[in-house]
Amino acid sequence: MYMAKKPNPRKIRREKRRAKVREIREKLAELRREFVRSLHFSRLKAYKYLLSLVSEGKLKLIRTGWGLKIFYNKAYEEYINSYFSEAYRRATSVLRRGEKTPDGTAAKHDIYRIPIEPKKPAFPGKITILKKAYIDTPYRVDVALQEACSLLEAKRRGISVPDFVAVEINPSQNKAALITSYNPSFKTLASVKSTLSSAPARSFLPALGEFIGNMHRKGLYHTDLDLENILWNTSLMDPKFMLIDFEGAKFFKTQPKFSTVHRDLGVLFESLAEPPLGVYSRRDIERYFIPAYCKVTGYNPNEVKALLESVFPAQPGQRERDAIRKRIEP
Ligand SMILES: Nc1ncnc2c1ncn2[C@@H]1O[C@H](COP(=O)(O)OP(=O)(O)O)[C@@H](O)[C@H]1O
Ligand SMILES: [Mg+2]
Repeated sequence: MYMAKKPNPRKIRREKRRAKVREIREKLAELRREFVRSLHFSRLKAYKYLLSLVSEGKLKLIRTGWGLKIFYNKAYEEYINSYFSEAYRRATSVLRRGEKTPDGTAAKHDIYRIPIEPKKPAFPGKITILKKAYIDTPYRVDVALQEACSLLEAKRRGISVPDFVAVEINPSQNKAALITSYNPSFKTLASVKSTLSSAPARSFLPALGEFIGNMHRKGLYHTDLDLENILWNTSLMDPKFMLIDFEGAKFFKTQPKFSTVHRDLGVLFESLAEPPLGVYSRRDIERYFIPAYCKVTGYNPNEVKALLESVFPAQPGQRERDAIRKRIEP
């Protein structure tokens, strides 16, 4: 015979409590998911992304006993051991946190250049890598992971960037470092402004316009596109560029609207033509940069011109520009 169990009030209270905890947990998880969705690479997404590359066999993961995780590029396998065993001794500082950069802002990171020669070298045998160290806060660890992912994603999309070599993360100590390839023949546009000033607008600006246009066409919104973050091989005959500094980079599945990425051009125009060292005039940019950029992206040139006008409402005349150029030529 079936006997209804007498409800146990203690059990009911426990169940209620558990249901409440579940509800709160679900709400928190939903908030977290929302937060993750709103970022292009959160720590979780970044880990997932890097692990997916590990499972595809493109990256390797080393875990050490004390919580350090290193994701490294398999193509650089033979350099990795040398890097760990001896490279630190040969590191030279490129930039120190707090130091003034060519455009006058303070550097956010310590950056080191490290020559590496593996024990059993395959051709070419020697490389130089760059190590960007992140200051010790949990937030910076996330930024390092995010930057590593963005660098890999940019490369995957066929955008010219330095090679990803490794990212070291020590979440318990809130430390991280991003290691990339370094090509000495590429310099930041900011550091070669005097070379740039002798580059004729009609040959340099279309090449740059095409390069930046390609970046936007491939769905990358850089968000910090100033002359410190664009590398150039300094060649006038065959200009080649590379992008660096992906801390704020955002990726879109397909080419975004101009209004989504236009801030990149605002920053670039400002730093290209910034007085007193600005190298090109508004007219140069309008004549040579904008057509090349719009040809690649299909964006409306009038919209880009309107942006240019909002950045440079008034322009110095030709004579004034010549005087500025003379001042900065060596
Ligand atoms: N691959 C590279 N090749 C040459 N110089 C580089 C490279 N990566 C970084 N640098 C130098 O270090 C500087 C800072 O690096 P970046 O990644 O832009 O860090 P930050 O976030 O501090 O601006 C750059 O402006 C450039 O001078
Ligand atoms: Mg930078």
